Amino acid sequence: MTFFWSSWITILSFACWLGILGVLLMVLKYKPEVEDDGTTGHDYDGIREYDKPLPKWWLVIFFGSIVWGIAYWVFFPAMFPGSWDGIATVEVDGETVAWTSRNELNSELEANNKIFTDNFEKSILAKANATNATKTLNELADLQATMRRSESPPADLQTQIDGKIAALAPAIEKLAENPSALKVGSRLFLQNCSVCHGSNAKGALGYPNLTDGDWLYGGDASNLLATLHNGRVGGMPAWRDQIGEEGVRAASEYVLSLSANNGDKDNGELDKTLVAQGGPIFQQNCALCHDKTGKGMISAGAPNLTDQIWLYGGERETVRNTLRYGRAGVMPQWEDKLGNERIMLVVAYVYSLSDRSTKTVKTTVPNITASATAPVAKVEASSDN
Ligand code: HEC
Ligand code: HEC
Repeated sequence: MTFFWSSWITILSFACWLGILGVLLMVLKYKPEVEDDGTTGHDYDGIREYDKPLPKWWLVIFFGSIVWGIAYWVFFPAMFPGSWDGIATVEVDGETVAWTSRNELNSELEANNKIFTDNFEKSILAKANATNATKTLNELADLQATMRRSESPPADLQTQIDGKIAALAPAIEKLAENPSALKVGSRLFLQNCSVCHGSNAKGALGYPNLTDGDWLYGGDASNLLATLHNGRVGGMPAWRDQIGEEGVRAASEYVLSLSANNGDKDNGELDKTLVAQGGPIFQQNCALCHDKTGKGMISAGAPNLTDQIWLYGGERETVRNTLRYGRAGVMPQWEDKLGNERIMLVVAYVYSLSDRSTKTVKTTVPNITASATAPVAKVEASSDN
């Protein structure tokens, strides 16, 4: 809250409180002149007023609430928030901290989570014969807690965390065969993922289908875990400034030819000249991420362009727009929201849905950053010609 609003609320509360107390004391002191018949002489349409004391129970409640109000100021950070934290505390992350609504929520979430985690370990992991994941989960939680607490985490801490996450993969394969794990996983999917990926997980334009065997980032349990824990951002650069509108048209036509889209009713006949011009442009600029075969690379998140599966659409104009302006689909990270155990369940569910009959393309590029920066240099070389 800003200084203005916290001051405003504090002053308003004090003023109301003093005002009400003042009025009450005034009323208690005020003694009207009473006539012989015991009334005050006030007469409203024949209704005459006595001077009777306020009922005791009413006074007790009234003063009680004033005392309660003061106690509230003492216990909670109500006065000029920031200058008085209040004496109430809650426990978050093993530490006793001052009460705030956020800390209280976190504390309750933690308690709730503890119940969930215990249940997860005792009934779900145990029944799926995957109890050895418990040790990894504990180590992972410790590393994550260190990460959260440290201002400048050691360089290899994230690598260690990623290692532990990958080590959960065998447990995922077991959970994916366990009906009760899948039931919880599917519920988590409906609550958290279906807005983007659809309730049947078949995706939509820009949101990948998770039930086919076609993966941007790989469909192995370890790939899926990494996708969920850290999130993903697609990095398809914009090409219009680099290869020009002519280059975009040629490369797009070549892309269409890769997916054997020739003769497709949406795109009509492909322009053979453009396809021929597009080949070298593709090899020079696109092969680094999409592979020289166009089959994509999961290490770059670059989709396979030779199949009929499109993330953004395979119509000629859509492909051209993809090339002109680039694409950057965002898959959020879920570590903070779901936590390690729920991620395992939802990943197991996705793993169980996906079509394992088609093998994921496993071309690897050692370094993603190298592939993301290298093409630009090549483009400059090509635009000189
Ligand atoms: C806000 C929308 C959104 C939500 C919510 C969302 N995703 Fe995604 N997800 C995406 C997008 C967009 C991509 C593709 C990223 C890209 O283009 O690089 C993606 C990619 C993925 C991938 C990688 C697919 C591949 O081909 O490698 C997986 C797996 C995935 N999501 C699972 C999930 C799960 C499980 C949840 C729920 C916990 C979820 N997503 C929630 C938008 C979302
Ligand atoms: C730096 C790596 C990189 C380079 C270089 C690159 N791409 Fe991409 N491309 C990607 C990524 C990553 C995506 C997926 C974007 C997303 O998930 O949002 C993508 C997506 C696409 C798509 C959309 C596919 C679909 O399913 O809708 C097309 C088409 C495409 N690229 C063509 C090209 C062409 C042609 C070139 C060369 C002119 C090129 N790309 C160069 C990384 C790259």
